[in-house]
Amino acid sequence: MILDAGCGLGYKAAWFAEMAPNALVVGMDFSDSVAIAASIYKHIPNLFWIKGDISNTGFKSDSVTYVSCDQVIMHTENPELTFSELVRICAKPNGQVACYFYAKKALPRELLDDYFRIACKDLTNEELWTLSEQLTDLGKRLSELNIVFDSPDIPLLGIKGGSYDVQRFIYWNFLKCFWNESLGQETSVATNYDWYSPSNARRFSEQEVRELVHSNGFSELCFHIEEACFSGRFIKSAG
Ligand SMILES: C[S@@+](CC[C@H](N)C(=O)[O-])C[C@H]1O[C@@H](n2cnc3c(N)ncnc32)[C@H](O)[C@@H]1O
Repeated sequence: MILDAGCGLGYKAAWFAEMAPNALVVGMDFSDSVAIAASIYKHIPNLFWIKGDISNTGFKSDSVTYVSCDQVIMHTENPELTFSELVRICAKPNGQVACYFYAKKALPRELLDDYFRIACKDLTNEELWTLSEQLTDLGKRLSELNIVFDSPDIPLLGIKGGSYDVQRFIYWNFLKCFWNESLGQETSVATNYDWYSPSNARRFSEQEVRELVHSNGFSELCFHIEEACFSGRFIKSAG
């Protein structure tokens, strides 16, 4: 039994179902995306969809062998509660949860992101899109300066020293102003929009993620660290 928790349009649930034809795979999301997923993937016989809240799945305890929760938990109302629900339904022993968490950035960027999370709630989608276009333009102009410099370490602000491109320095430490030449204008704007539009977007430190995992009786099978995120595959112990 496999659960894709917060499946969106369901491409990952479909991928699991095709890779594991003997498993029962469920994609769950609280948005209408599950109806679209159900119409796209209706040819896959071991794949089912539920419109529901992953922090209160209604599944029996210890019933799911593998839970995938990719790029979702930080958007739920209370990520700790959501994680404990995924833990509850995960089979004992040896059930696994794979989960992705946004990483905390430098302090100035965290303060600005927290402020925007509140302020953006009062903006219309059109206003948010315009803001995203402006931030993309800023990212592009900074990137076109082609200036690389050495920043000092400023540990109390979480700013890591080293050689930075100006756009990357501002991006990681002060303001998300995404720009990627190879992805192009539209995807860059959409990436900025995706960051500022959800009303919940919790970020975690590495220690917070590890504590959440261990305090729920899981051990780490693998733990992946990137500047923007932490992700891992965690296994339930017998206890
Ligand atoms: C960034 S998308 C990720 C979709 C998919 N997991 C992927 O990797 O492409 C986040 C998804 O989480 C869903 N979501 C957020 N909170 C949820 C909740 N409490 N219960 C179910 N789905 C939720 C959203 O509707 C959205 O489809």
